[in-house]
Amino acid sequence: MSTGFWGPIKPIGAGHHAQHQQLRKTLSWPHLIALGVGAIVGTGIYTLTGVGADRAGPAVILAFAIAGAVCACAALAYAELATLIPTAGSAYTYTYSVLGETLAWVVGWSLILEYSLACSTVAVGWSGYLVGWVQQAGISLPPMLLAGPHGGGIVNLPAVLVALAIAGMLIAGTRESATLNIVLVVIKLTALAAFVALALPAFQSDHLQPFMPYGFVSHVEGGMTRGVMAAAAIVFFAFYGFDAVATSAEEARNPGRDLTIGIVGSMAVCTLIYMAVAVAAIGALDYRALAGSSEPLALVLRTLEHPVAAWLVAGAALVALPSVILVMMYGQSRIFFVMARDGLLPRSLSKVSEKTGSPARITAITGVFVAAVAGFFRLDEIAELANAGTLIAFIAVAGCMMALRRKAPEMKRVFRCPQPYLVGTLAIIGCLYLLISLPEKTLLRFGLWNLVGLALYFAYSRGRSLLRTTGHAASEEGLPE
Ligand code: ALA
Repeated sequence: MSTGFWGPIKPIGAGHHAQHQQLRKTLSWPHLIALGVGAIVGTGIYTLTGVGADRAGPAVILAFAIAGAVCACAALAYAELATLIPTAGSAYTYTYSVLGETLAWVVGWSLILEYSLACSTVAVGWSGYLVGWVQQAGISLPPMLLAGPHGGGIVNLPAVLVALAIAGMLIAGTRESATLNIVLVVIKLTALAAFVALALPAFQSDHLQPFMPYGFVSHVEGGMTRGVMAAAAIVFFAFYGFDAVATSAEEARNPGRDLTIGIVGSMAVCTLIYMAVAVAAIGALDYRALAGSSEPLALVLRTLEHPVAAWLVAGAALVALPSVILVMMYGQSRIFFVMARDGLLPRSLSKVSEKTGSPARITAITGVFVAAVAGFFRLDEIAELANAGTLIAFIAVAGCMMALRRKAPEMKRVFRCPQPYLVGTLAIIGCLYLLISLPEKTLLRFGLWNLVGLALYFAYSRGRSLLRTTGHAASEEGLPE
C-alpha cells in the first residue's frame, strides 16, 4: 500500500471483488447512452429554465452555454478516467487511487449529496408538472399535500411518492430498470423536439432585449441572487448526470469503448437540445412570464394556444422525468456501495442481493432520504446544493486526470482527453467560478455538510478503512464477512 499526503492510496484497477460483492456486467453502450441521456435531460431543462430566466433574463441562453462548456471539459476528463479506472464509484474511486483517502472521502461525501439531492430536485420538478397537468384535466388535488411548508402546504406528497416508487424499482433489479429507461428517454426527447417545433415559429427578437438585465457576475439584487453566472450556477444542474455512466463502469460489458461513447455521446446530444429549447422558450415568451412557473415549457405552449400539446408535453415530463431519478438513485446507491466495500461506511450495507444483483439495503436507505428532502424543501435550494456537491466532484476528476498524466504517463489510456492540461485547468476554473456564483446560503449549507462528513470520517471511517487497517484494497483479499 502506498500512502500520500492525503492518506493511503488505493491501487489502480482494484476492481476484483468477492463474488457476493461483485456487480454484474450487464450494460453495453446503448444502455450507457440511454443511462446518460436519461440522467441528463430532466428537471434542469423542463423546470429550471424558468428559475434561470428569473436570475439572468434572456441571457439564460448564455448561462446554458457556459454551464455546458464547463461540463464538456469535465466530461472529457471523466471519460479518460472512467476508461482507465473502470470500477464503480467514479470521482470517489479516482480520487482514492490518485490523491488519497481523505480527499476521496470528501469527494464521496459530495457525491452522496449530488445524487440524492438531484433525485429530490427532480421529484419536486415532476410534482410541479403533475399539478399543472391534473389542473388542466379539470381535477383538483388538496393543495396542502402538493407543497412543503415553504410553499404554504404540509408535504409535497407526489414528490415523496415518486421517489419511493423509483427506489422500489431499483431494488427489484438493475436490468429491467435500464431497459425501461431507454423507452422513457425516447418519450422525453420527442416531447422536447415537439416543444421546439411549436415554440420556434413564435420567436420574437424583442424578447431578447435587454439581453442581460441583471449583468454577468453573480450578485444579490432585491434579495435574490442574480446575474448570468448566478443562472449558470443553477442551470448547471441540467447538464450533469453523465457521471452516472462512469459510476456504472464496473457493470459495463466493454468499458473501454462503451464508456467513451456513453459519456461523450450523451453530453453532446444534450447540449444541442438545450440550446434549442432555451432559444425557443425565451423567444416565444417574455422571460418574466417564465420566471415563476413550476412547469415553464407547458406554460409556453398554453400561452401559444397549443393546449393539447402543452398537456402532452407535461404528460411526457410526467412519464419520463422519473428516469432521471432512476439513474441518479442508481448512481447514489453505487457510490454508497463502494464506500461501504472500502470499509468507510458500515460494510453490511454493501451486500448485493443474490436474486437481483443490486445493493438493496443501500437503495432503500437512499430512497427514504430522497423522499424526505423532496417532501419538505424548495426546488431551487435543493438543486443548488446538489450542484455544489457535483462541482466538487468535477474539480476532483479534472485534478486526478492531470495528476495521473504526470504520475503514470505510461499507462495505456483507452480514451485520451485532448489537450489534457488545458481542458483539465478550464474544467477546474469553470467549476470554481460556478461554485462561488452560488448563493451564500447554499455555500454555507455545503460547508456544514462537509464538516459533518469529516467528523464522521475521523470518528468512524478512518479507523475502519480496509486499506488502512489491512494494507490491502478490498479487491486483493475479498472482504471479511
Ligand atoms: N441533469 C439532470 C436534470 O436536469 C439532473 O434533471
